[in-house]
Amino acid sequence: MAISLRIQRFMESASWIRRMFEQGAELKREHGVENVYDFSLGNPDLEPPDAFFETLQKVAATRDGGWHRYMQNAGYPATRARIAARIAAEHGVDPGEAGIVMTVGAAGALNVTFKSLLDPGNEVVVPSPFFPEYRFYVDNHGGRLVLVPTRDDFSLDIDAFAEVLHSDVRAVVVNSPNNPTGRVYPQADLDALGALMAEKSPDATLISDEPYRKIAYDDVEQGSVLKATPCSAIATSFSKDLGLAGERIGFLAVHPEHPQRQGFLAAAVFANRTLGFVNAPAFMQRVIAQLDDVTVDLAKYTARRRVFLDGLREAGYECVTPEGAFYLFPKAPIEDDVAFIKALLEERILSVPGTGFGAPGYFRLSYAVPLESIKKALPGFARIRARFV
Ligand SMILES: Cc1ncc(COP(=O)(O)O)c(C=O)c1O
Repeated sequence: MAISLRIQRFMESASWIRRMFEQGAELKREHGVENVYDFSLGNPDLEPPDAFFETLQKVAATRDGGWHRYMQNAGYPATRARIAARIAAEHGVDPGEAGIVMTVGAAGALNVTFKSLLDPGNEVVVPSPFFPEYRFYVDNHGGRLVLVPTRDDFSLDIDAFAEVLHSDVRAVVVNSPNNPTGRVYPQADLDALGALMAEKSPDATLISDEPYRKIAYDDVEQGSVLKATPCSAIATSFSKDLGLAGERIGFLAVHPEHPQRQGFLAAAVFANRTLGFVNAPAFMQRVIAQLDDVTVDLAKYTARRRVFLDGLREAGYECVTPEGAFYLFPKAPIEDDVAFIKALLEERILSVPGTGFGAPGYFRLSYAVPLESIKKALPGFARIRARFV
């Protein structure tokens, strides 16, 4: 029997996730779920808003119309038109109905995008710390992931991009609000990146992976890649802002003046079909089309972020203030982040080492958990830190 060696190597490199999961499951069995503080998951815990459930019922009540058949691989025209209008209102650039391809989440949108843009060996540049799945998505389509460091506060370092951009780069992916750092990129940084790409990597598209866009705090200024350069696209989903991660609904939006717009969109529609997605989930396409300006309850995330951040700082941890998403990315008090998160397990605290995100010496905490868990876990964070300093 033969299993792909490449997949085996990838699985091994990501095996710390499985080990964490197994250790967490064991702790929960031993001590009870309520006594284990699990900050390891990026799974939104807030239920979708009421408007979602009301729309679900309305959509489920329609019987006629052939709504459960195959459709255009790009998705329902009415849904795409609705999303284009939302993007136009939010970003000030209208991708048009034809510029939207409905996808199986942001992950589907990214895979469709890489399939469309990459020839073997082409590079995809990503600022680090980064979402670890990018490595696998890029590899799926024969590309090569190139990481570029960010500044100490995790903002984009345009000079560092200048070192790695060249004519073989086909895509730059920015993720804002960022997983794992919570950093949000302002317009000026995206503009500078767009201008640099035009000069050094004219065949590259600037892709914004932005499923956390609506989860942002303190009225932070959020830039738009569509405003930064015509050579741009958005790959995103409703997984986080509507709490629909399991429903797998997202989209790709291509700039109306992208120099290869027709070819890019034709390739994306073809890729959506031939990667086996065929089309994004039909039922959810009809539901989300009706949910303008609706998000999960941000007040809950806002309160958790404040309590967690203040509590950790009081205990002596250094942590950049996250501007969006639902993660904290503090510095570990020792260099070895893996040893540190193992020590946290003694307090029944589950977290993820920064090494997995390309940032050794840090660790990621998700606050997609009840406020009570955060409050109960804080003394344990303080005790473990005190042991190392
Ligand atoms: C940065 C980032 N991009 C993409 C995804 C994938 O999201 P989706 O569920 O929409 O595929 C995630 C999920 O955690 C993420 O954190």
